Formats: sequence, C-alpha cells, structure tokens
Amino acid sequence: MNIDNCDPKYKAIIERLRDKEEKRILFVCLGNICRSPAAEGVMKSIVNENNGKGWIIDSAGTGGWHVGELPDKRMRIHAGRRGLVLEHRCRRVTGSDFDDFDIIIGMDSMNIDDLKQMAHSPEAVGKILPMAVFIDTDYHCDHIPDPYYSGAEGFEHVLDLLENGCTNMFGLMNKD
Ligand code: 4NP
Repeated sequence: MNIDNCDPKYKAIIERLRDKEEKRILFVCLGNICRSPAAEGVMKSIVNENNGKGWIIDSAGTGGWHVGELPDKRMRIHAGRRGLVLEHRCRRVTGSDFDDFDIIIGMDSMNIDDLKQMAHSPEAVGKILPMAVFIDTDYHCDHIPDPYYSGAEGFEHVLDLLENGCTNMFGLMNKD
C-alpha cells in the first residue's frame, strides 16, 4: 500500500509514526475477545517476523463484559491454525490509553464513535483511525465485521482482513 493512497485525513499521523523510534498502537473493538486481540496477535507476529524494533502493541474493548478473559475460543482456534497464539487478557479502554498510545485503531464505526466520546482532547481524537484505512483487499472493506454471532467463515474473514491490514500498516510505518 502506498501512503499516497491513504485518505489525506489519516496520512499525517501515519507519516508521523513512521518517523518515531517507538510506535505505540492500540487496537480496539467492542468485546476485546475477537477482533482486536486477533489484530494484536497478527501485528505482533508481523513485527517479530520482520525484526521490527520499538513497536508496542496492545488491544482493549469499549465494552466490559469479558474483562480478564482470554480471547474467544473460536478466535483462538482459527488464529492458532495460522500459527498465532492469542494470550491477551480482555481489558476495557481507559482514559490513559489516549496518552499511552500514539494511534488507536477501531474495528468499526461504532468503536470509532465510542472512542471519540471517550477522547478528552482534540489531540486524543486525532489518534483514532478505522482499521479499514489499511485494508486493500479485493473485497471492499469499510469495517471489520463482528464475528461473534457468525460461523467459522466469519472468523476466517476477519483474520484475512487483519492480515492484509496489519501487513500494510507495518509497511507504511516501519522505517527500515
Ligand atoms: P469483538 O466481538 O468486539 O470482536 O470482541 C464481540 C465479542 C463479545 C461481544 C460482542 C462483540 N459481546 O457482546 O459479549
């Protein structure tokens, strides 16, 4: 993915992160047991495979139903088939996340709206981006669909989208 293909609205923050030694990225979804811990696992694996340095990657949820739990078993099984071990423990987004992370990536428009409500300053709002910005699959993607009530194909589809988006994100933000 070429940075010039990115929405100009998001180009500045992506370029700023590319120039930073340390990149602190928070993935956010509703429950923090399916999409965002999967995004965290996919991104950590890409960073490790490429010997990326200085990446801090975490995930959190806007809802608090599953706090303390491992990711949904179905997501762990589907991710495991791709060599990913998801060990994140569910937590909620906090106000300090807007200070502790450089970029906060929401999976769908509801996540984005909820994050904007929580952001305490215009600078904090400026850190919020939709995951779809990074996705350039043939399937036109404007959000990462919630797989919670879907079958196996929903989990596979989410992982396909996240692998594409995280690979692009790494390519856009890695300096080497
Ligand atoms: P996620 O999926 O936002 O991708 O983690 C969900 C998981 C649980 C619930 C909703 C969405 N829930 O309502 O418990």
